[in-house]
Amino acid sequence: MLAIENAGPPDGVTVREWVAQDYSRAYSLWDRCELTLGVSDSEVEIDRHVKRNPTLALVAASGDELVGTVLGGYDGRRGIIHHLAVDPDWRNRGIARALMRTLEERMKRLGVVKINFWIEARNGGAVAFYKRIGYATRELITMSKSLHPGEPVRSSEDRTP
Ligand SMILES: CC(C)(COP(=O)(O)OP(=O)(O)OC[C@H]1O[C@@H](n2cnc3c(N)ncnc32)[C@H](O)[C@@H]1OP(=O)(O)O)[C@@H](O)C(=O)NCCC(=O)NCCS
Repeated sequence: MLAIENAGPPDGVTVREWVAQDYSRAYSLWDRCELTLGVSDSEVEIDRHVKRNPTLALVAASGDELVGTVLGGYDGRRGIIHHLAVDPDWRNRGIARALMRTLEERMKRLGVVKINFWIEARNGGAVAFYKRIGYATRELITMSKSLHPGEPVRSSEDRTP
């Protein structure tokens, strides 16, 4: 388990790489943080993501307490971010900033030139956070197709205004 120095989390909080034992506490954190969770969040699927991106899956911990997560990915061209979440009781102390700073440093070392990701339009708080740390919004349309029969895509065109 590698602790990362100079990442700037608050005193007593460590940013480190994800280990398999983090799953159940992370899932409960995501649930508390009201992330949209589905079949891709099963232990098997998360484990597959972490195995493909072992240096980019990070947690913030205070002792035994898991207080934040971010699951970064790299497809060989772009970086992507999933599941940045900080426990509601630990917010506004710089934990998300520290997780993202560490993730960006690690992506840079892998050769990532640009990070792209998606946020639900209603999540104004997360957009404000990302703008604060240097991200910009871009007006793009997301095209999605589900390859899993149990998880149909919820098309925005099906929504009544
Ligand atoms: C978004 C989130 C990760 C921020 O975590 P955090 O640890 O509280 O953020 P930080 O303390 O590192 O904030 C860094 C900066 O962003 C600002 N910021 C954080 N959340 C903000 C918000 N909701 N609105 C406006 N600014 C915000 C902070 O004020 C801080 O600014 P500063 O540099 O002036 O001090 C957290 O609110 C969260 O887990 N939300 C629910 C899950 C979510 O939406 N995840 C992202 C999409 S998947």
